[in-house]
Amino acid sequence: MSRVVIFDRTGQPDVLHIVDEPAKEPSAGEVRVRIEAIGVNRLDHMMRTGAFPRPFRLPHARIGCEGTGIVDALGSEVDGFAEGDPVIITAVPAMDVDGTYADQVVVPADRLIRRPEGLTAVDGAALWVSYSTAYGALVEKAGMRPGDTVLITAASSSVGLAALQVARQIGAVPLATTRTSAKRELLLEAGAAAVFASEEGDVAAAAREFTGGAGVDIIMDAVAGPGVAALATAAKPGGCVVLVGWMDARPASMPTNAPLTIYRYMSFEHTLDPIVVRRMAAFLDAGLRLGALRPRVDSVFALEDVVAAHRRLDEGAHVGKIVLTT
Ligand SMILES: NC(=O)c1ccc[n+]([C@@H]2O[C@H](COP(=O)([O-])OP(=O)(O)OC[C@H]3O[C@@H](n4cnc5c(N)ncnc54)[C@H](OP(=O)(O)O)[C@@H]3O)[C@@H](O)[C@H]2O)c1
Repeated sequence: MSRVVIFDRTGQPDVLHIVDEPAKEPSAGEVRVRIEAIGVNRLDHMMRTGAFPRPFRLPHARIGCEGTGIVDALGSEVDGFAEGDPVIITAVPAMDVDGTYADQVVVPADRLIRRPEGLTAVDGAALWVSYSTAYGALVEKAGMRPGDTVLITAASSSVGLAALQVARQIGAVPLATTRTSAKRELLLEAGAAAVFASEEGDVAAAAREFTGGAGVDIIMDAVAGPGVAALATAAKPGGCVVLVGWMDARPASMPTNAPLTIYRYMSFEHTLDPIVVRRMAAFLDAGLRLGALRPRVDSVFALEDVVAAHRRLDEGAHVGKIVLTT
């Protein structure tokens, strides 16, 4: 049997509960993973609260798009993995059906990469979604190069912290925004070349000033909302904005400064492509070995304490990843 977290209606954290289900057998091309640790993501929060961007199955929705564990059983026609291999799950497009908050999941073999050597299960659960999103948005989508100046909003988020490190690994200059100056030191220690707090003033003007008036090459924005147009004025002519999230759920404003390229980034456009996944995995592997990438874990909860883990997510006081362990 496998413990599986499900919910039958959207709402507060206590809609989440555990049921026991028979372990599934992997079919051809599939692998069963015994989950060790699960990263809790903002997407999970959106799903649980009903703010998910697409319809999903209810009742009996599963949840979770990130996890790491050990290969437990192989279907036929699977090459490259063996029982006992430590792996990371790279994409769960239908988390209501295949969600990772469970003791075991069955996934197609091409949705797995090997867990980098020396990475603990807990750190492994804090790696993939944040770092593949930051790498995909900045490197694959925006074409970030050494020397580029990159403005990263909500930089204390898991994705933001990953973006600071990815930019540093490439040799770019990351600038961080936060709502509160209380996070300045944390963000400087995390690799930001400068930190702009919105409670202190206009972050776009501060970023332009940092670049001597030239403007930044890339803006990676996880906030969106009515502030996008003003934020975009931090970009140099010909620069770009990569929108990776919408922490501010209000309608977004449309930038008017030009020329400017705007991307709306979803990491699935890369994490479902095995060729890009191979590049992502190689980049992350190198970054971990060099010590440039250091996943930050906020807190660890046992799977049976999933409600407490989601309460921590809802409070919004976390910095780094909330992780569940089986
Ligand atoms: N495109 C993709 O494929 C993809 C993949 C993964 C995640 N995402 C998105 O990336 C974003 C970050 O996710 P995460 O899991 O890393 O978040 P997280 O760790 O939960 O981020 C929390 C931080 O975000 C900042 N924040 C929260 N609400 C905000 C608001 N309304 N305005 C400004 N800042 C706010 C706060 O920082 P301060 O207090 O310092 O301001 C807070 O500490 C989310 O929007 C998520 O949906 C996108």
